[in-house]
Amino acid sequence: MSKKKLVFSGVQPTGNLHLGNYLGALRNFVKLQKEMNCIYCVVDLHAITTFQNPDNLRKNVLETVAGFIATGLNPNKSILFNQSSVSGHAELAWILNCVSRIGWLNRMTQFKDKAGSDKEKASVGLYIYPNLMAADILLYKATHVPVGADQKQHLELSRDIAQKFNNDFKCKDFFPIPEPLISKKVSRVMSLRDGTKKMSKSEESDYSRINLKDSSDDIIKKVKKAKSDSEQIPDNLKSLEQKPEAMNLINIYSEISKNSLDEVLKEMSGKEYSYLKKKLAEVLISEITPVGKEIKKLLGDRSHLEQILKKGNEKANIIAEENLKNVREKVGLI
Ligand code: AMP
Ligand code: TRP
Repeated sequence: MSKKKLVFSGVQPTGNLHLGNYLGALRNFVKLQKEMNCIYCVVDLHAITTFQNPDNLRKNVLETVAGFIATGLNPNKSILFNQSSVSGHAELAWILNCVSRIGWLNRMTQFKDKAGSDKEKASVGLYIYPNLMAADILLYKATHVPVGADQKQHLELSRDIAQKFNNDFKCKDFFPIPEPLISKKVSRVMSLRDGTKKMSKSEESDYSRINLKDSSDDIIKKVKKAKSDSEQIPDNLKSLEQKPEAMNLINIYSEISKNSLDEVLKEMSGKEYSYLKKKLAEVLISEITPVGKEIKKLLGDRSHLEQILKKGNEKANIIAEENLKNVREKVGLI
């Protein structure tokens, strides 16, 4: 029996959408809306698992919505909303807290990274964050979840939770087992300062990332300063294995210029990295700065963005309530 496909994904409103979000997530979200029904969520309840200044949080929710639309998301076609406005996320998360196992959460590497050395001081929310993520997906019975590679483990947990719920409550196909959609080529865009770390909103140095709102000058400066390699560009991928920063620049160039890695190496081999950087800055400027300009323009009309969220919230709520009603029934809640 073929089930109706439904895409769900979320992005945290923690400011500074960057090239990693763009290549790992946003750009795929836009592509998918042509093929399937899609629900995209600004996950504010996830963001508060680490302290957020309330004014910044409000601002960042709207900025993330602007980021979605500026990349090409059509809010009339896809549902675009913020998590806290649909209370079903929190309710289903509670039910799933009771299905998920402590042993499963103890294996989550992102908690270990984010909690740092003093885990006793991390919020309980940060620890059970992956259960909330499972609730986000299952609340809509989503079948496909486009994310960057960093979310793969969380998605596997969502699958385990869905399966355990279906088993425990003897309802075999109740929750579909969600499929990850992880782009093979650019599942992980790395920091421009350290090719072993992913590009992230939270890394201190702004030189580590290209933000979608960066100006042409910012992009030129950051790409120029990016770590690369003192040797010339090789003609094969094998020689780049121990050079994560160089590999990262070549990957990004390949992705944005839409040339395969082989084609890029053919074009670049024997040249200095300064040549690659010049070309890379050019393609980044032509692809990213229009998005940044559009974000700034959209942020000038706050009420338009709020209106988009309101419509999205209403549509999401209808689906969520219907599914939750059935979940309550399965669990035995009156
Ligand atoms: P976040 O900003 O952590 O909420 O991430 C939003 C989406 O962007 C998720 O699907 C992440 O997997 C993806 N993402 C974040 N950083 C990167 C990166 N450096 N490379 C690829 N994808 C990323
Ligand atoms: N945890 C994801 C991240 O940090 C964001 C997220 C929350 C998400 N809920 C989701 C992604 C559901 C996909 C599906 O990037």
